[in-house]
Amino acid sequence: MQVKPLKTIHLSRVIEIEHACFDKAVWESASIYEERLNSFPNGNLGIFSGDDLAGFLWCELWNYEEQYGPDRFKLSHSPKAYHDPQGKELYISSFAVDPKFRKHIRGKTAFAKLIEHTIVAHDITSSILLVSEQWKAARAIYTQWGFEEIQRIQDFFTTSDGNQWDGLIMRTLIHQQNLSQNHI
Ligand SMILES: CC(C)(COP(=O)(O)OP(=O)(O)OC[C@H]1O[C@@H](n2cnc3c(N)ncnc32)[C@H](O)[C@@H]1OP(=O)(O)O)[C@@H](O)C(=O)NCCC(=O)NCCS
Repeated sequence: MQVKPLKTIHLSRVIEIEHACFDKAVWESASIYEERLNSFPNGNLGIFSGDDLAGFLWCELWNYEEQYGPDRFKLSHSPKAYHDPQGKELYISSFAVDPKFRKHIRGKTAFAKLIEHTIVAHDITSSILLVSEQWKAARAIYTQWGFEEIQRIQDFFTTSDGNQWDGLIMRTLIHQQNLSQNHI
């Protein structure tokens, strides 16, 4: 499995993976993904098995603020508004591994490879993300990477069955010198 920047040609697979991994109430449009590619050309990564995309990590660089307003985390927000190539905080907007590849690579291994690639390529000192309380595997992976809940947005996610789930904003400090091993 190889980590490479995502390109426009991968967008149809990105959408396929998104649909296989997330409830349709949180699907984002191809145009938003395209805007993300244009804003941060080498910062959005895929993990590939040969030519096939197995999973992805979508990111922005933000200028660090101790606490952001909840609007920052809105689904489908324009990355142009907040991404700054000099930003030191890595915002992870999406992460997923296609279920059909999970027998070949665990999500936690994919995350380690993707985030390590990002950390080596960019001078970042922290990372932040929003995760649904319902996404237990993702939360376990983030916790293993030191992410801690810093804020909770009540009922942020409504799933297509009408249930509501809190959104957890989690942050970790990034230490370039102690990457990997423990997480894979
Ligand atoms: C998140 C995702 C990549 C994880 O991949 P995975 O192969 O299912 O997960 P892993 O096997 O790597 O498991 C990671 C950890 O979560 C734990 N875990 C898995 N399912 C769990 C559950 N339902 N409850 C609690 N822990 C769980 C595993 O035991 C493992 O912990 P361990 O290292 O202590 O064994 C995958 O489930 C996915 O793509 N989900 C949909 C998209 C998503 O939720 N993205 C997050 C966006 S913020």
